Amino acid sequence: MAKLPTYQQDHQTIIFKNSAREIQLTIITPEIIRVYENHSESGTSYAIEGDKQKPTDYRIIQKPDHYEISTSALTIKMDAAMHLDAYDSNNHPLIIDYRGSRTPLDRGIDEEHKKFVQEEGHNVPGADDQNNPHYFQVVKDLAADEQIYGLGDKTGYMNKRGYEYDDWNTDNPAPHLENFTRLYKSIPVIIGLKAGHPYGLFFDNPYRSHFDFGKENPDYYFYSAEDGNLNYYLIGGKTLKAVVTNYTYLTGRTPLPQKWTLGYQQSRWGYSASQKMVQGIVDKMQQSDLPFDAIHLDIDYMQGYRVFTWDDAAYAGNPKKFVTNLKNQGKKIVAIIDPGVKKDPGYKIYDQGIQNDYFVKDLQGKVYVNQVWPGDAVFPDFGRTAVQDWWGKNDQFLTDMGVAGIWNDMNEPASFQGEIPQDIVFSDHGRPSTHKKMHNVYGHNMAKATYEGVKRATGRRPFVITRAAYSGTQKYSTVWTGDNHSIWPHLQLLIPQLCNLGMSGFTFAGTDIGGFGSDTTPELLTRWIEAAIFSPLLRNHSAMGTRAQEPWAFGEPTLSIYRKFLKLRYRFIPYLYDLFARESKNGLPLMRPLVLNDENDPRVRNINDQYMVGDSVLVAPIVQPSQRKRLVYLPAGKWLDFWNHQEYDGQQDIVVDAPLDKLPLFIKKETILPWGPEVNQISETPDTTMTFNVYGDSGSYHHYQDNGLDFKYQQGEFNDYLINVDHDQVSVKLVHQGFQPVYQHVTVNLKNQSITLDYHSDTEDYK
Ligand code: GLC
Repeated sequence: MAKLPTYQQDHQTIIFKNSAREIQLTIITPEIIRVYENHSESGTSYAIEGDKQKPTDYRIIQKPDHYEISTSALTIKMDAAMHLDAYDSNNHPLIIDYRGSRTPLDRGIDEEHKKFVQEEGHNVPGADDQNNPHYFQVVKDLAADEQIYGLGDKTGYMNKRGYEYDDWNTDNPAPHLENFTRLYKSIPVIIGLKAGHPYGLFFDNPYRSHFDFGKENPDYYFYSAEDGNLNYYLIGGKTLKAVVTNYTYLTGRTPLPQKWTLGYQQSRWGYSASQKMVQGIVDKMQQSDLPFDAIHLDIDYMQGYRVFTWDDAAYAGNPKKFVTNLKNQGKKIVAIIDPGVKKDPGYKIYDQGIQNDYFVKDLQGKVYVNQVWPGDAVFPDFGRTAVQDWWGKNDQFLTDMGVAGIWNDMNEPASFQGEIPQDIVFSDHGRPSTHKKMHNVYGHNMAKATYEGVKRATGRRPFVITRAAYSGTQKYSTVWTGDNHSIWPHLQLLIPQLCNLGMSGFTFAGTDIGGFGSDTTPELLTRWIEAAIFSPLLRNHSAMGTRAQEPWAFGEPTLSIYRKFLKLRYRFIPYLYDLFARESKNGLPLMRPLVLNDENDPRVRNINDQYMVGDSVLVAPIVQPSQRKRLVYLPAGKWLDFWNHQEYDGQQDIVVDAPLDKLPLFIKKETILPWGPEVNQISETPDTTMTFNVYGDSGSYHHYQDNGLDFKYQQGEFNDYLINVDHDQVSVKLVHQGFQPVYQHVTVNLKNQSITLDYHSDTEDYK
């Protein structure tokens, strides 16, 4: 029998050694175990900040042919060949090393024919470069019944099984539905269900990496990286939800946003070239009775695409006045910032960066130049604290103008004259490193710099949007899915893409409603606003030169339907905000796949065209042209049609009508939901009343309230209301009271009556 490796314990780390390898297991919590092997790469994580380790009991048992390392939740078995297998506490296999060797997919093509088909633009994926001396791979068993979710914003379906993906942040203006393997973000976490048993696997390594989920061979899935250390986390949890909660414990959760950021936002590349155009959009939104909270300014507001400048002349010489004016009417401005700084001696930001040596350089020490919107541009070295601080201070140029949110774009980083060479010197936590290593965390560091800068300058909860991201960016920024197109497949993609971002910790996400590139149609725009109406970030955005897609662009009936759904969104904002308050504690996404709530029902494991909002709202949008009816699968429980309260049993497929103005929407029976007032923007003045709708006869609900703006809630300045309904018995309790004023009246709408309770300050209760 082969000899087991030796081991040595250092607190919660166990170091296993044989003649060839040294693998460390570190118990982070009972449900999180890190696997690490040093490949001579230094540096700490960008995803994980602070010490996450909790004192945890564990034991090691030596069996004849393996060790067993167990916590209360996970057991890891290590054999003589140092295979690692993870089981849950009931001995169900979760993550098992594959014992065979890989059998690369035979594409039946030689190099000559490969070149030939590529000449017409066809993509022939290459084999991963196993000859590279730093290459390593991790190959795990794939069960016949195994689904894999997560991986952030990748294209394709909810369940990634059968497909391959790459992590190398990429600006792609035409992502295809299924076969485009890379996008803007690298979020190397998978959340799996093996024969119904949940697990997570997080590969924390920013180098270019590859995932194959049983495409090469249905018996295994693998991860490979072109460099870096072997560094991954085995994540357990009794349910899929617990796994997501554990993963977001490790990499962080989206903090509570300002409440207005949940409102509708209108954007288009080109609007911001003049004050007149932006004002025109504001006016038209108001005249059309369309609720909205913000207008986004794309790159055209700057002077010649120079970041942190404003084309004053196009804003009547005084952009601050314009922004302040809008702000006084309750409407916010969000402005874009790209990382590429115009190479332009005499331009303040460029000069400061050169003087202080803030830009990335080539191996000869020359500042590296590529091209982006301003032409020749240089790139801040965000892997240094001093550069992050400088950038964050520059954001003050915008916040001083009254800008309420900062949209970070092109931070993969995108470059128009070919990709930045791998050896360009980028810093890694202050130490000289390479573009090769820092590429996938560039957007993360930019978003973090922006978040910190805005927080310092305003004291408010920063509203940052970023296109590129890495695991952990969710702590600093909301994301959007980049340049989609006005095509039906990209509307379909919205559901798996946002749901998988949610499973990967990114709850605050959205798509360009209507589609960014290509020309939208009235029907597509209508179905897009319906499908996206619960996406946390709600923004219509399009490319310059495409057909206009503002809500009024196609006249009626598009405008009225669009308005109806925006009004519906504002009614749901208290619910969405409640979900955010919960999410900041448990990491569970607002918008989520059915499987996250009902993993034991095999029917929901591959659904791509329905989603849930929290636990009790089911959305089944129409994502096909000309469709006026659809099948809806209702999971276990009883469900009420939101529009007419018709009741359905769960665990069945039903056919529902969906004329153009209808979004099929179901509420789980015995649910209470807050129902916001009919408003056209989110007010900064606290509400003094709140309404709750009861679906069914009884239920219980916690509702959260705070000022929606700053960090005072962290000192307890919030209210937690508990609403209980049992037929006609209604009670409202202030379980936590830290924010003034509390609601003076609370109305609860039951099936056949409406009950209003008033607040009595002497007894501090509702009667
Ligand atoms: C990129 C962004 C897009 C933006 C455009 C111009 O394509 O993804 O949203 O409108 O740049 O700034």
